Amino acid sequence: MDARAQTAAPADTEAPADLATALIHARRTVLPKRLGEPGPDAAQLQRILEAAAAAPDHGERVPWRFTLVPRGARWRLAEAFAQALRERDANATAEELSQAREKAFRSPVLMLASVDLGSEGDEIPPHERVLATGCALQNLMLAATGMGFGSSLTSGQAMASRPLRSLFGLGEREQALCFLNIGTVESHRKPRPRPAVEQYLRTLADNESR
Ligand SMILES: Cc1cc2nc3c(=O)[nH]c(=O)nc-3n(C[C@H](O)[C@H](O)[C@H](O)COP(=O)(O)O)c2cc1C
Repeated sequence: MDARAQTAAPADTEAPADLATALIHARRTVLPKRLGEPGPDAAQLQRILEAAAAAPDHGERVPWRFTLVPRGARWRLAEAFAQALRERDANATAEELSQAREKAFRSPVLMLASVDLGSEGDEIPPHERVLATGCALQNLMLAATGMGFGSSLTSGQAMASRPLRSLFGLGEREQALCFLNIGTVESHRKPRPRPAVEQYLRTLADNESR
């Protein structure tokens, strides 16, 4: 197979570029409180997770890690959120603790995304591993969007906390990045205006004249 054929878009769709851009622009954050049942079934979830494997991955380190938090285990996450808040704020009120716990029970599918930062001095540095994990996460969200589900990433101060790290058994070189939430869209918030290309594109001049 020549190089062009290997990189060509799939031929069994009529307009792959239109499909891809439509999917990309259709994805928008749907926060966990706006996600209801049903979530993806086991086969759909498997397909969504397989999308991560198509992420660009320098050195093929597979640095992304996802930990599913099934319904039966949500109380453990709730306790970790509450404990993390207590450690941040010894004066947290019962209501604040209850709000922290409540976050663990939203969204049909909830999984922690973490990254294996690799050993010290590894040829593939931590920031490239984080980038690959970001690409993997985007693939998951696009796959979920394509199947008609809503999704979002959520983080917060608990991510780096001792209770959360301990609950998920994160090693010294593993960093919790965010949670991925997937479910059926119950409501949308107002879409945010997307930035214009001019905001993030620069072009290097072909000479040094100013
Ligand atoms: C790593 C990461 C963590 C995020 N955590 C939160 C969060 O805790 N709460 C939240 O409302 N949005 C969170 N977001 C989502 C962004 O706020 C969201 O993408 C942004 O508002 C743009 O909206 P859009 O995705 O609909 O374009 C997070 C996004 C990323 C990449």
